[in-house]
Amino acid sequence: MLIRNACLPDGRRGIDLLVQHGRIAALAPALPAPEDVTEIDARGWLLSPPFVDAHFHMDATLSYGLPRINVSGTLLEGIALWGELKPQLTQDALVERALRYCDWAVAQGLLAIRSHVDVCDERLLAVDALLHVKERVAPYLDLQLVAFPQDGLLRSAGALANLKRALDRGVEVVGGIPHFERSMAEGAESVRLLCELAAARGLRVDMHCDESDDPLSRHIETLALHTQRLGLQGRVTGSHLTSMHSMDNYYVSKLLPLLHESGVHAVANPLINITLQGRHDSYPKRRGMTRVPELMAAGVNVGFGHDCVLDPWYSLGSGDMLEVAAMGLHVAQMTSQQGMQQCFDAVTVNNARILGLQGYGLEVGCRADFVLLQARSPVEAIRLRAPRLLVVRGGHVLARAPERMVTLDLPSRPGGVDFTLPLHASR
Ligand code: FE2
Repeated sequence: MLIRNACLPDGRRGIDLLVQHGRIAALAPALPAPEDVTEIDARGWLLSPPFVDAHFHMDATLSYGLPRINVSGTLLEGIALWGELKPQLTQDALVERALRYCDWAVAQGLLAIRSHVDVCDERLLAVDALLHVKERVAPYLDLQLVAFPQDGLLRSAGALANLKRALDRGVEVVGGIPHFERSMAEGAESVRLLCELAAARGLRVDMHCDESDDPLSRHIETLALHTQRLGLQGRVTGSHLTSMHSMDNYYVSKLLPLLHESGVHAVANPLINITLQGRHDSYPKRRGMTRVPELMAAGVNVGFGHDCVLDPWYSLGSGDMLEVAAMGLHVAQMTSQQGMQQCFDAVTVNNARILGLQGYGLEVGCRADFVLLQARSPVEAIRLRAPRLLVVRGGHVLARAPERMVTLDLPSRPGGVDFTLPLHASR
């Protein structure tokens, strides 16, 4: 396959990309065409590495309304509602919903997902279902699973044993939820236990951490401490971190360098936390997102996750990481050119680092995984939630869509409407 005339996220234009044996063999202007190659004209559109979601819950997705709808809209009612649904879950229904979501993901150029899977269930029904799904989708989507003790590692009877059983069955990342344990001390103890477990097994860690509006919820500090102590730098992620929004500024000025020093990744989930957090406030209502630009400025790798789609916590969503980037950009007020570009990175390269994906990127030797977007730049892709014209994995086309074009019926303005901007304006 030879892609002709694409632009790249770093601003290069008129680039050709040659695929051989499932890898990127060349990337340069005006490449000579080998024999028998299929040429695809990118027409100047943006060729990007695929979207990556660093934080999702595939066991709950597409269950909206089962067995009822979250009335208060809070995280805690969502957890209670999920608890009501759990006994009614069946393996077939879990698999069917997850596979359907993976179809949506692929159609939108989302080819790698880290999903938490609830292990607080003696049957480990969701674990087995998602391990099956992981195998089914492996030819076209990387699904990385996190053993997540939703009801608390220490608070929920049997959670630690179930979590270990899930790891034994092939779940590859250790999860946690320290802010949901019974006390701050037990939360800290759960972080220690889980980090030690991960270190002993050579696994990565990704914890739901401080997902509250409590300025004193400081498990991220404990997570950074144990990451350093156990030599887990680069392998640990703190997800949500919403309490950082409410923390004292002086304390944060100490915390940010600590996070950088310990090599902890951060994941914000803007769509979910802008709706879940601040629910106990009257006005002004706090924004429910961690301090993304400040974390990035401190040198911390920050990704954005979708977190939920049509489940007990979120009633919308479609697997579109450009929607996630757009919400993150707005909530964090990252409206500068650099800020908007960073939001695109937060749903592509930054998330790939969090998952530890090998061979990811648009460079010679990388896997030939990419998506062609009907936009001239990453910023324009976010602005337009650009159509995904072509989704390719290992050199094989997984999805195609026509260019979006609307024809107006205005006699004084003949022709179609093109929402992209002239080149000079789209930079
Ligand atoms: Fe989550």
